[in-house]
Amino acid sequence: MNLQKKIEEVRISFRTALDSLTSDNDAVEELRSKYLGRKGEIASLFSKLVTADPEEKPLLGKALNQLKNDCLVSFEKKVRGFEKPVGYSASSGMDYTLPGIHFPVGSLHPLQQILDEIKDVFTSIGFSIAYGPEIDDDFHNFQALNIPKHHPARDMQDTFFIDKNIVLRTHTSNVQIHLMENNNPPLRYIVPGRVYRNEAISFKSYCLFHQVEGLYVDKHVSFSEMKGTLEYFVKRIFGRDVKIRFRPSYFPFTEPSAEVDIWDEKRDQWMEILGCGSVDPAVFENVGYDPEIWQGYAFGMGIERIAMLKYKISDIRHFYQNDVRFLSQF
Ligand code: PHE
Repeated sequence: MNLQKKIEEVRISFRTALDSLTSDNDAVEELRSKYLGRKGEIASLFSKLVTADPEEKPLLGKALNQLKNDCLVSFEKKVRGFEKPVGYSASSGMDYTLPGIHFPVGSLHPLQQILDEIKDVFTSIGFSIAYGPEIDDDFHNFQALNIPKHHPARDMQDTFFIDKNIVLRTHTSNVQIHLMENNNPPLRYIVPGRVYRNEAISFKSYCLFHQVEGLYVDKHVSFSEMKGTLEYFVKRIFGRDVKIRFRPSYFPFTEPSAEVDIWDEKRDQWMEILGCGSVDPAVFENVGYDPEIWQGYAFGMGIERIAMLKYKISDIRHFYQNDVRFLSQF
């Protein structure tokens, strides 16, 4: 038979066989050796070239080389298509490198996280947790805390009034009064809660924020005991190397009073995180505790300030914007 015709026949039969080839290894190998092997169809055509008419040899040789090359290229291309991806598992038929389905997972708000830590520290040293009203009367928020009407100390906290006698509490100290009205001493509580102030909004002040109040009343309670407790607290939250200072201050309901500052590495300045002091005897009198018998200390800390220092957050307003890009970092 004419060699040129033979070449075309092999080309067609190879293409048909390749089209119906499956990824089965044996079938692949069989096809390869039938056409491309050393004793395959194409090799045998080459051997026939020897006996061909010398005039036709160059053209036939070219056609044969073309056939060999075409078959090889389309064979390799087909076989590459059979290759399994890296993560393919033959037993399950699944590709484990495919990206999974992403279910977004929420997280606790950073303020909740820091509050949980604060609660852990104080409950571990004997404090119980109490709560009180966010809307309260003038007596509990001010008067019983030794801040009479028209006293200049009222200007320390710009107040949101609901009516003449009812306020959004400006601090959690109102709960000191509720606790002492409703319990006999000794008592030892912390009081987490939200407070409100009508003050200029800035990177470190907002119209609402959160505090944790502390109140300890017993027979022998000293100012230095309070200092030790607060220092212990600060070190547990910020680590042993934190830079802390007690600064003399004034609150109408404590005497003596102090404020605690923490060194803010980010801003290179002190940041106030809490006020504290020994309970003023006038407060004990207002709730019917005998100041000759009972002593105590109280403190009130700002949760946002503590979270800002701990997590290096530069602006208090981030806490209230509910931006997922912010929240998902915690
Ligand atoms: N209530 C004070 C404030 O809001 C903090 C404070 C609480 C100070 C208890 C002394 C004792 O700033």
